[in-house]
Amino acid sequence: MEWQDFFLAATTTLGFITICKSLIHFLNYIWVMFLRPSKNLKQYGSWVIITGSTDGIGKAMAFEFASKGLNILLVGRNPLKLESTSKEIIDKHFGNVEVKCVVLDLRKNCGEEIMKKLEDAIYGLDVGILVNCAGMAYPYARYFHEVDLDLMNSIIKVNVEGLTWVTKAVIPSMIKKKKGAIINIGSGSNAVLPSYPLVTLYAASKAYLTMFSASINLEYKKQGIDIQCQVPLAVSTKMTRTKESLFVPSPYAYSQACTRWIGYEKLVVPFFLHSLQSYFVMAIPDVFLDYYTLHNFLYWRKRGLIKDSQTKGLQASTSQFNQQS
Ligand SMILES: NC(=O)c1ccc[n+]([C@@H]2O[C@H](COP(=O)([O-])OP(=O)(O)OC[C@H]3O[C@@H](n4cnc5c(N)ncnc54)[C@H](OP(=O)(O)O)[C@@H]3O)[C@@H](O)[C@H]2O)c1
Repeated sequence: MEWQDFFLAATTTLGFITICKSLIHFLNYIWVMFLRPSKNLKQYGSWVIITGSTDGIGKAMAFEFASKGLNILLVGRNPLKLESTSKEIIDKHFGNVEVKCVVLDLRKNCGEEIMKKLEDAIYGLDVGILVNCAGMAYPYARYFHEVDLDLMNSIIKVNVEGLTWVTKAVIPSMIKKKKGAIINIGSGSNAVLPSYPLVTLYAASKAYLTMFSASINLEYKKQGIDIQCQVPLAVSTKMTRTKESLFVPSPYAYSQACTRWIGYEKLVVPFFLHSLQSYFVMAIPDVFLDYYTLHNFLYWRKRGLIKDSQTKGLQASTSQFNQQS
């Protein structure tokens, strides 16, 4: 065989293998995204614990699980919001589900308190699923040295420590019955983007969650516990203050996508249009993404500062007015 013939045969074979690989990848994507049946969530147990269940994604997930006939243990910091969420679920699914509430402030309660309260609340319940959804973000972008101590403390306590203590309280009951599922709500800020300047602490706290999920998933897989990190991009909630659009679903549309993935891969982007966005974003070289995020957040910081100074200005003029009158 001439070397030209050999070269032609080698490149054709290589091309064929590459096309087959891409095709298999694409078909697998279609299968998992649209066709694969969801797991029977009741097989894990009859109760679902959801932190951050009084608003946004967590609240929508509570409704989604209730629609599947699962009982819900709502965990939240605000007793009034817990009560009204519980009432809304019971009104909608009357007779089909039970709802219990636990008041826990993941920022204020210390680790031992979180564990004790949760252990007491789940005693005797057949807990199948835990959703760690409670989270906090910056009200607007800012340099790390500008982050005030209160915000810093809140993000570390809620996003990092809270999820750790809650998991520690719940996992022994799952180990005992050798089944369960834990869903940790991560973020595209660390799972999709190479950096997240000016919202650093938030992205770093979510990086902790991603690694925590991947590692304990391996620890407990053989014990029948499926631990997964689900990654949202933008969802229209009070955290983002973004209106719904094609790529920004409502928390209800988002939570429908979430439950379909429970029990499968360890790291997932459950919402189709988010996964499409991630695919294209991850194809862009890091240097461009870094440039874009930095400038986008600098703009967001400037707007935040203006709003802040307007609010402070308004407060100052109101107090001046009050003093004068
Ligand atoms: N929305 C998005 O675009 C987006 C994108 C990526 C990741 N995420 C993640 O998704 C999760 C849910 O976010 P979301 O958009 O649904 O936010 P959200 O609407 O602000 O809801 C956050 C939930 O966490 C609760 N929470 C906050 N601080 C708490 C504390 N100290 N103790 C107990 N509960 C506390 C809130 O309670 P209250 O009702 O009392 O405020 C609320 O129920 C978060 O982990 C977030 O990081 C969201």
